[in-house]
Parts: sequence; structure tokens; C-alpha cells
Amino acid sequence: MSTHDRKIISVIGSGLIGCSWTMVFLSGGYRVKIYDKQPGQAAKAVQNVRLQIEELQQNQMLRGNLNSVEQLALLSSHENLSEALEGAFFVQECVFEDLAVKQAVFHELEGHVGKDVILSSSTSCLLPSSIFSEVQSRMRCIVCHPVNPPYFVRLVELVPHPETLPVVMDSTFALMTQIGQAPVRLMKEIDGFALNRIQYAIIAESWRLVKDGVISVQDIDLVMSEGLGMRYAFNGPLETMHLNAPDGLEDYLRRYKEGMQRVLSSFGPVPEFSDKEAEVFIQDMCKHIPSSQLSVRREQRNNLVMGLAKLKKMTE
Ligand SMILES: NC(=O)c1ccc[n+]([C@@H]2O[C@H](COP(=O)([O-])OP(=O)(O)OC[C@H]3O[C@@H](n4cnc5c(N)ncnc54)[C@H](O)[C@@H]3O)[C@@H](O)[C@H]2O)c1
Ligand SMILES: *[C@@H]1O[C@H](CO)[C@@H](O)[C@H](O)[C@H]1NC(C)=O
Repeated sequence: MSTHDRKIISVIGSGLIGCSWTMVFLSGGYRVKIYDKQPGQAAKAVQNVRLQIEELQQNQMLRGNLNSVEQLALLSSHENLSEALEGAFFVQECVFEDLAVKQAVFHELEGHVGKDVILSSSTSCLLPSSIFSEVQSRMRCIVCHPVNPPYFVRLVELVPHPETLPVVMDSTFALMTQIGQAPVRLMKEIDGFALNRIQYAIIAESWRLVKDGVISVQDIDLVMSEGLGMRYAFNGPLETMHLNAPDGLEDYLRRYKEGMQRVLSSFGPVPEFSDKEAEVFIQDMCKHIPSSQLSVRREQRNNLVMGLAKLKKMTE
């Protein structure tokens, strides 16, 4: 297949997430056209993606069946929106997390593409019914919420608008699977989607335990990183229940149901996370990891996540 026969995906907004989606789509063998409203930004994104892809190839971490040269030949940047959208069957929006900006972007996108083109948003926190309110044919709209860094953390939450057609959900699911991501379907929209609802539940209980003087900031983080996190990279919480009793889930419930309910009913209210309340958390955290070390620590984290991705691939 030559470069020009390949199907086209347009990426609108070329910051951190726009570049990440671009690399994931390229790894799946798609032609990717990047557009950004900020003049010069899309071209900069192409340079950025080029460096990252070459480095990944050197470290033997490049995804997909094509080498770095073949993948980069599929990439182009555009300053003209209609040219960036020409020929695309799928559009991934990655602009600022601002409702008014996203609504305007989708309204504008619709004017340049046919009715069967899937319009997808990367939003972390906004609901499909809000983001797509200015779009006329909303049945082809969907949220594909990635997790940072998407090249190594494969989960994508697919969240429909109430009018999204099942076939749009199905083809988006198939596309995500084909490019090597791990999609999950939400049957309907809900604030926080699934990932952030779970994440916030963990944050809230961690916060309360520290605030109530039960455990320190460093130790509650160890409860996750040395405890729950060790298995959660491979088995979710429900499968963990199934594995943790000799006869599986039913057995687990028989043994632990009452204890779970007792503990759960002792949970406190939603924390305030107020300035005053947060002071001690911030002080403790900064003593442990001073702000001068943040970027080193971030890079270390990304390398470790990369290693974990490699390990998970081996266990597939
Ligand atoms: N950063 C994360 O960890 C993360 C994770 C999951 C989802 N997301 C979501 O992805 C989206 C993008 O986030 P990001 O971190 O890449 O932001 P970013 O600030 O790095 O990039 C946004 C880009 O969009 C461009 N832009 C702004 N308005 C535009 C417009 N009208 N048309 C075209 N381009 C426009 C900007 O010039 C900028 O290059 C947000 O909705 C965010 O919530 C982010
Ligand atoms: C963008 O490209 C289209 C098609 O090539 C052209 O008609 C249009 O005038 C261009 N827009 C701008 C702002 O240059």
C-alpha cells in the first residue's frame, strides 16, 4: 500500500495530546494531518513527533508494523482547516479544555466534512451533550478520552452523546483496537466518565486518612504503589475479588461482604481540599519531592510506565 492509499485521520489541536494521538494513529498506519489555530504550531508539532518517533525507534519502543521513516512519511501539518480535513474519515479534536472553544471548533468542523465523518473529542471532563450541542448531526459524535501518556497507557474511554449511533461507537471501538489502544465503552455519559470517578474516590479516601491522622502522605502513596497498584496493572478490582477467594467471586462475597459494607459506611464526607487543609499535604509532598526535582521525577515515571507497557505486552 502506498502512502496515498492509506486512510486519513485529522488531528485538530497539536499540543501534548494532539502529538500523542498523532503518534498512535501513525503507528496504526494511518495518514495523519495535523492542524492548529496557532500559526506555526502544527509544523512545530510535526518536528516534535519526528524527534519522539526517531527516539522510540532507537529504543526499540516504536509501536506498529512500520518503521520510523515509513510512519513519518504519513504525517503532514496544515495551516488551512479545510485542507487539514480533506479526505478524513475520522477527526480527533485535541484543543484546550474549554467548553466554548470546543463547541465552536465542532461547529466549524461540521462545515468542512461529510455527515458520515466521525467527530471525536479528547476531553477529560466535559460531557458529550455539552461539547456537541452546536453540532447539527450529533449521531456521529463521540468522546475518545485518552490517558497520559497515551503511547504507553493504552486505555481510551469511549463516551457517547445521547444521539450517538451504535455503529459510530462500534467503528470507533474497532479503530482504537486496530491501532493498539485498549478501548472501553461507557453506555451513557456521566460526569467524570469512569476513570476519573475511580481516581477521585481513591484521592478522597487517601486525603481523609491523612487528614484524620491515620497515615502520612508518603505512606498512603506507598499503599497504592507497593500494594494495590502492583496487581491493578494486570487485574482490575472485580477480577481481584474473584482471584482472592478460594472459590472465586461468590465465595469472596460470602466471606467479605459484611466487612466491606461496614468499612464503606464509615467513609467521611467529600474533602474540602481547601488552602488551609491542603497546606500540610503540600509541605509534606514538597519535602519529599522538592519542585526542583519535578521534571526528573516525571521523566523517571514515564520511563517506568514505558517499562511496564513492555512487560504487559509480553504477558499478552
Ligand atoms: N494533558 C493530559 O494529560 C490530557 C489527558 C487526557 C485528555 N486531555 C484532553 O486533551 C485536550 C488537549 O489537551 P492538551 O494537554 O494537549 O492541551 P495543550 O494546551 O497542550 O494543547 C492544545 C492545543 O490546541 C490548540 N488550539 C486551541 N484552540 C484551537 C482551535 N480553536 N483550533 C485548533 N487548535 C486550537 C492550541 O494552540 C494548542 O496547541 C484537552 O481537552 C484535555 O482535557 C488531556
Ligand atoms: C483553505 O483552502 C481552501 C481549499 O484549498 C480554500 O478554498 C480556502 O480559501 C483556504 N482558506 C484560507 C483561509 O486560506
